[in-house]
Amino acid sequence: MRQPAVAGLRKRIRQADGVLIATPEYNFSIPGGLKNAIDWVSRVDDQPFALKPVAMLSASPGPVGGARMQYDLRKVMLFLNAAPLVKPEVFIGGAGTRFDADGRCTDDSTRHVVGAQMLAFEQWISAVRRMRGS
Ligand SMILES: Cc1cc2nc3c(=O)[nH]c(=O)nc-3n(C[C@H](O)[C@H](O)[C@H](O)COP(=O)(O)O)c2cc1C
Repeated sequence: MRQPAVAGLRKRIRQADGVLIATPEYNFSIPGGLKNAIDWVSRVDDQPFALKPVAMLSASPGPVGGARMQYDLRKVMLFLNAAPLVKPEVFIGGAGTRFDADGRCTDDSTRHVVGAQMLAFEQWISAVRRMRGS
């Protein structure tokens, strides 16, 4: 696929130390736009998610914060041979009460778990790099 937008996204993923996916949940699964982007970039032999550290977090107005979507996204990442971070998982339920009008997080427990995930992701990126020998 030679479309510039697809090639550009592949290049950005290849150049990145890791990929952080923050997304809502649509109909208990991956929003179509996100799935479509993953599908487009994946259709080459050297697809860019291979051995790429990936972390994911989700938010929704509902109580489970997109958890069902994350297990579908994990399955897709498994097929693409990515290196998804397992823990801590971040599901931000009741998202409408945890952010202000400018999108800033106002909830201490949410800030704490997102911060913990970012620290774990940094360590995971280093660990994957060591395992790959790169
Ligand atoms: C087509 C559609 C399906 C949705 N399905 C879910 C769902 O399964 N679970 C959920 O918690 N929220 C669901 N939502 C609500 C989204 O979580 C909410 O719209 C999202 O957090 C805000 O992102 P948006 O502005 O991209 O819609 C759905 C929203 C849309 C538009």
